[in-house]
Amino acid sequence: MREAVLATPALDPRFRAHFRLAQANARDAAFICRLRSDPDLNQHLNSSSAEVEDQLRWLQAYKLREAQGREFYFVIVFDGADIGVVRMYDLRLDQDPTSFAWGSWIIPPPRPVGLVTFTALMIYEIGFDALGFQQAHFEVRKDNVGVVGFHLRAGAIQVGEDQESFHYVYPPQAYRRLRAASADRYAQLRGA
Ligand SMILES: CC(C)(COP(=O)(O)OP(=O)(O)OC[C@H]1O[C@@H](n2cnc3c(N)ncnc32)[C@H](O)[C@@H]1OP(=O)(O)O)[C@@H](O)C(=O)NCCC(=O)NCCS
Repeated sequence: MREAVLATPALDPRFRAHFRLAQANARDAAFICRLRSDPDLNQHLNSSSAEVEDQLRWLQAYKLREAQGREFYFVIVFDGADIGVVRMYDLRLDQDPTSFAWGSWIIPPPRPVGLVTFTALMIYEIGFDALGFQQAHFEVRKDNVGVVGFHLRAGAIQVGEDQESFHYVYPPQAYRRLRAASADRYAQLRGA
């Protein structure tokens, strides 16, 4: 699973926008802490410690899950700079349809044009094209109106809700439509 992720174009550092796996080191711990402790960005995220040491320990535990192919935490790189993060987790291979979750998605403003959609496309490219999942699933806080709108425009289907969040599934057909509709942007950001 991990090798298949590493082999995807999404992780090819020659591309202008690409992912790299988060490292359990002080640099990535500090970067993630900075994003997750920003009050303008973390209103709709589960709270996490603002201490770099705590984040480092979290990343060390995550690296074990990554090695087992159970979770992938990506740093989003654009024009050579770390710009955001996004995570794939809860990989359900024993259900029909197979499904992966994604979230922990943060890109601080100013957001390069096209990068938000491109990030989602890369997650779906990894999940559907490289890993062969049959569906994605995720939850979005009800008051995260912008992100709810993004997922609905992209073709997410609401399948449930709790007090705090809407629950969605996302079919590969919606990914193919989104990818076709975003072809120009995709090519610009994929440009080596
Ligand atoms: C998640 C996050 C990266 C999304 O970015 P965003 O800029 O808020 O997303 P938007 O939906 O406004 O914009 C995404 C795209 O949709 C487009 N868009 C926005 N509103 C639109 C509309 N009404 N119609 C069509 N397109 C629209 C934008 O132009 C943008 O296009 P691009 O990707 O080609 O540049 C950002 O909000 C963030 O970092 N939030 C903090 C953390 C968080 O809440 N994460 C989500 C947890 S699930």
